[in-house]
Amino acid sequence: MVDLKKKILKERPRQMKKTKEFDLKKYLIKKGKIVNKLLVKYLPKDKSVISCAMRYSVLAGGKRLRPIFVMLGAESFGLDLKKIEPAVCAVEFLHTYSLIHDDLPAMDNDDIRRGKPTSHKKFGESVAILAGDALLTETFNLIAKADVPADRIVKAITMFAKYSGYNGMIAGQAKDTIEAGKWNKKNISLCKKKLEYIHIHKTSDLIKASLLLGAILAGAKDNDLEALEKYGHNIGVAFQIADDILDVYADKKLLGKKGSDADNDKITYLRLYGKEQSENKAKNLIIEAKKSISKFKINKVIYESLADYMINRNF
Ligand code: IPE
Ligand code: IPE
Ligand code: MG
Ligand code: MG
Ligand code: MG
Repeated sequence: MVDLKKKILKERPRQMKKTKEFDLKKYLIKKGKIVNKLLVKYLPKDKSVISCAMRYSVLAGGKRLRPIFVMLGAESFGLDLKKIEPAVCAVEFLHTYSLIHDDLPAMDNDDIRRGKPTSHKKFGESVAILAGDALLTETFNLIAKADVPADRIVKAITMFAKYSGYNGMIAGQAKDTIEAGKWNKKNISLCKKKLEYIHIHKTSDLIKASLLLGAILAGAKDNDLEALEKYGHNIGVAFQIADDILDVYADKKLLGKKGSDADNDKITYLRLYGKEQSENKAKNLIIEAKKSISKFKINKVIYESLADYMINRNF
């Protein structure tokens, strides 16, 4: 498994908040380790080619931010991690399926992901498609295993299907791919609307859903869920703005992917707003996100530090 600890320790210190009360680097390393152990536990163990491909992509690395958000959402409302271990893995399964499919020749056509050959490069397209399908299906099986009252599980699955499905992440991915190479560069205001739609759905929806998943399983009240939803929405869009910037400006070795937005003629923040304006927009979204959780009594500093990290990361 790629050493997440080494990569996080390489992050420039000024970008990783360390206060008397909270050390974000330490937090990410500690939580990342917990997630990696759980993933090994909940991935299939058999030797079939699909199971091998599932393990290959999930265990290739990754920042594990979405499962960390599930744990944070649950812990903030008093639920013990032991009760939702499978649900923590579920979001990383869904996220990894989305990456496997995102890299396919019919989509972004990328060869490198998480520092390794993409699934279709390693196993061929049909296995990559099926490994993605298998991860997606298993996601909902894992959420259903949470050791909490059944009504919370139903609410969690309904919410998660909405944000990952045809009106959520898939809608964003569809618009992103359909517009590639075809968007009308003369109608900038229409393009900006499309860009907003793409970023909200392809990326922000799953980040929001991860936070909500932990909180719903913990039985959080509606006003807290609303606050988390606003927070997740804003950090999610900011996260994708940073991804657009990293696609061009990051150290590609550290990033673990080559950056293909320009080759694919994608609508991105960099293309429509330039670097400086994109960075400012992302910063403003983080300010807004922090406002939504300003009343939180528990873990507020963690939410704030993670919000900053969404746009201050190097990979
Ligand atoms: C990449 O997500 C795909 C996007 C939604 C931008 P991450 O940047 O979280 O990828 P990993 O999980 O760390 O590899
Ligand atoms: C991918 O967005 C979003 C999803 C996989 C849902 P990108 O295409 O920008 O992600 P990267 O840059 O390949 O990781
Ligand atoms: Mg893509
Ligand atoms: Mg891509
Ligand atoms: Mg990208």
